[in-house]
Amino acid sequence: MSKQFLITTAIDYANGSPHIGHAYEKILTDVIARHKRLSGVPVKFITGLDEHGQKVQMSAEKKGVEPIEICDSLAGEFQSLCQRLNITNDDYIRTTEPRHKKVVQSVLQQLFDEGQIYKADYNGFYSIRQEQFVTEKERENGAWPQIYGEVIEVTETNYFFKLSQYQDWLIDFIKSNESIIYPRFRSADVLNFLKEPLNDLCISRPKERLSWGIELPFDSGFVTYVWFDALVNYITASGYGSDAFEANWPADYHVIGKDILSPPHAVYWPIMLKALGLEMPKHFLVHGWWLSSGSKMSKSDGHVVNPLDLIDTYGSDAFRYFVIREMNVGQDSEFSLDLFQSRYNSDLANDLGNLVSRLLNMGHRFADGTVPSSTIKEAEELTVLAHWSELKEHIFDLYDNFQFHKALEQIFAFVAELNRYTELRAPWKLAKSELDEDKQRLATTLAYMSEGLRLSAVVLSPVMPDIAAKVLNLLGSSSIDSYEGQLEWGNSLAGGTFGEKIILFPKNEA
Ligand code: ME8
Ligand code: MG
Repeated sequence: MSKQFLITTAIDYANGSPHIGHAYEKILTDVIARHKRLSGVPVKFITGLDEHGQKVQMSAEKKGVEPIEICDSLAGEFQSLCQRLNITNDDYIRTTEPRHKKVVQSVLQQLFDEGQIYKADYNGFYSIRQEQFVTEKERENGAWPQIYGEVIEVTETNYFFKLSQYQDWLIDFIKSNESIIYPRFRSADVLNFLKEPLNDLCISRPKERLSWGIELPFDSGFVTYVWFDALVNYITASGYGSDAFEANWPADYHVIGKDILSPPHAVYWPIMLKALGLEMPKHFLVHGWWLSSGSKMSKSDGHVVNPLDLIDTYGSDAFRYFVIREMNVGQDSEFSLDLFQSRYNSDLANDLGNLVSRLLNMGHRFADGTVPSSTIKEAEELTVLAHWSELKEHIFDLYDNFQFHKALEQIFAFVAELNRYTELRAPWKLAKSELDEDKQRLATTLAYMSEGLRLSAVVLSPVMPDIAAKVLNLLGSSSIDSYEGQLEWGNSLAGGTFGEKIILFPKNEA
């Protein structure tokens, strides 16, 4: 079996409903997955839900239900978000599934048998209110901050994973694999973190404190620490322990937000893999945060507009377009309804939507609903052709380097060019002329508008799959599953039938 391109998202915490950060990460990953598939690369795309841990147990207690009921209901919400956003994940992993529990336990047993996990007494400060250990670093002017409530000193027995012995190896590994973290400047955060001596990782929680987790296979008095459990999802879903694993692992890209790079993904995960004798992931693609008035957006913020409502109002592709167009992958981006509406109105409704309705309108009025052939090539056509070859030259470099915001900017500059060309040619005037040359110009203009739109739809496909398919369909063509043979300027649409006039992006009254 040949290696598939394996791409993953973080698995979302089952402690609240999905928000724009979750939606964005899935869309970003989906755009990459779709682009790869269209490029002819076999892809495996994994996403899922992180269901164990203190927070889930606590909210279940508060609601008086079993933790699994909360998880089932949130799994439904997150999966329905994936559907609404047209996410093409090949698997959806939930950490409460038996297949995952089996892998976590086998990994723990292996590390324990090899002496990489040991039992020790841990002495530390424990916040009863937050149900977590706190360290001296959290003290402010010698006192524990209010949010911790009463803090007591406890000695607890736990299991520890020998992280520290891998510190030098990890530093070396990151330094000699410069491209492992994208954008590269984030490696500095990780290397900074690694300047301090690493502590071994406490990977257990005593059951009397936390029961909602995967039991340690070698001591039933404990469950596994949630991050250790969560990270393992990547190999569970890759078929760890079966033949399929060979064809999937290592991950080509782990797509994650900047808050979970260091230490979980860039420190714990590589060391866990190293200890297990497994290959390192090839890259971490680290995106920034969606902000609202400068702060990170999440469910608890109580924003006036829930950005996810925009999916129902404006359609999934408009939402996908907005987040991919606005965010420079790796940087933060400010969300606002105004910004969304202005992109929707100017780029989508006015530029792309108008071009489509003009073409359909004129195609029916002046060409009996049939896409004409182009028969002449004058200065106006040459400009369009030059613009397309320029775009074709760069667009995949931009896609392959995660410069999606620029890619979309350039595609829409080409759409604007097609509108300009239409104005310049003014087919509505040409249609009034009896001259044979003008008839040819008219046919050519409609042919160029059609071909330009077809090519725009092809390169927009990873970001706006539904709209691309719709546009192709309106041009008498069908949706594509490969870029191959689709990127050349030609006459392949000639003779096809224009669809009925429609409004692709209705102006919203809201
Ligand atoms: O961290 N903007 O889950 P999570 C952009 N379960 N991205 C955001 C964001 C925002 N405002 N808020 C969150 C977890 N994210 C763990 C992951 S992986 C083995 C376990 C991103 O639900 C965040 O950075 O808190 C992360 O990549 C993802 O959403 C899930 O966050
Ligand atoms: Mg989080």
